[in-house]
Amino acid sequence: MHGLLTLRIIVLATVLPAIPLSAQDGKTLFTQHCAACHLPDRQLVGPSLVEVSKLYSAKIDEFLAWCKKPIQKRKGVIQMPPMGHVGDPNLKLIHAHILEASKGLKEIKVRGLDPFYASPSMRKRPQVQRLFMPEAGPAAIAVAVNDELHYCWDAGECRLRYIWKGDFIDGWAVWRGNGNGLAKIQGEVLLREEKNPVPYLDLVDSARPRPKFLGYSLVEGLPTFRWRAGKIEVTETIRPTSDGKALTRSFAVTGEIPSALKFKSSDKMSVSTESAVLDGNGRLTVTLTPKP
Ligand code: HEC
Repeated sequence: MHGLLTLRIIVLATVLPAIPLSAQDGKTLFTQHCAACHLPDRQLVGPSLVEVSKLYSAKIDEFLAWCKKPIQKRKGVIQMPPMGHVGDPNLKLIHAHILEASKGLKEIKVRGLDPFYASPSMRKRPQVQRLFMPEAGPAAIAVAVNDELHYCWDAGECRLRYIWKGDFIDGWAVWRGNGNGLAKIQGEVLLREEKNPVPYLDLVDSARPRPKFLGYSLVEGLPTFRWRAGKIEVTETIRPTSDGKALTRSFAVTGEIPSALKFKSSDKMSVSTESAVLDGNGRLTVTLTPKP
């Protein structure tokens, strides 16, 4: 797969006829000569423009020298074809375009050949994934709330399992194992929840109604989970706060509304209240804030 892809790109790059242009601009020149192998924010055949900018933003002469006489530098990549025929004036325009096009972008790490992790669709935020997650049942749902905060909700037990901070998930193990492996979370767990905050679980075992997952709906890409247990029906929605640095967790309970829901802070995340009273309509919202 990789070999084929690389081959196709090289063929494209080398047999594409030069398109005559009346006015040469850096972007067009880049598209014509470099884009087949260089992407703005991640490695493709060659390094990303973010990386190229870091290396050469203030080094135009070294940049020209590389383009005209590239050497074998990185491991596991092909050698870059020399670009002397493009000409110094055009390479300078390309240099300016590279700096412009990489402004404000962050490098996206491409590990191995993990299309699952690196594909643009996986980078979408928010993002909901149904896949096997660590420390959760087989019906886990992983949610990337924003670029920083993510959580795993277990649709088998109908409860939040954990919240983490960092990058989202690497699903390569699941992908490669045809669904047998576990996805890896790419960050630090801030909070693990051991119990459902809805206290129906405090009933003795024999009387404990099993929660039944009723599905979820999406609002602005974020799920609202719905479940039922005995005589109560619950919805839970986890959203980012307006600054994106914390999460709000909203519940709506109907049926036999319990007086309070129970939460627990961890050493890395604080909950606005550990025993939250529901209003007359069975609603309540708590805020979960990462500790500095
Ligand atoms: C056929 C694919 C291909 C094309 C087309 C291509 N490059 Fe590259 N480029 C690479 C590869 C592969 C590397 C990494 C080589 C290595 O590290 O050994 C690279 C590396 C680079 C680097 C990093 C040099 C360093 O010091 O690490 C720069 C700068 C660069 N390319 C600029 C360009 C520019 C400008 C163009 C268009 C004029 C271009 N490349 C076209 C494949 C390509």
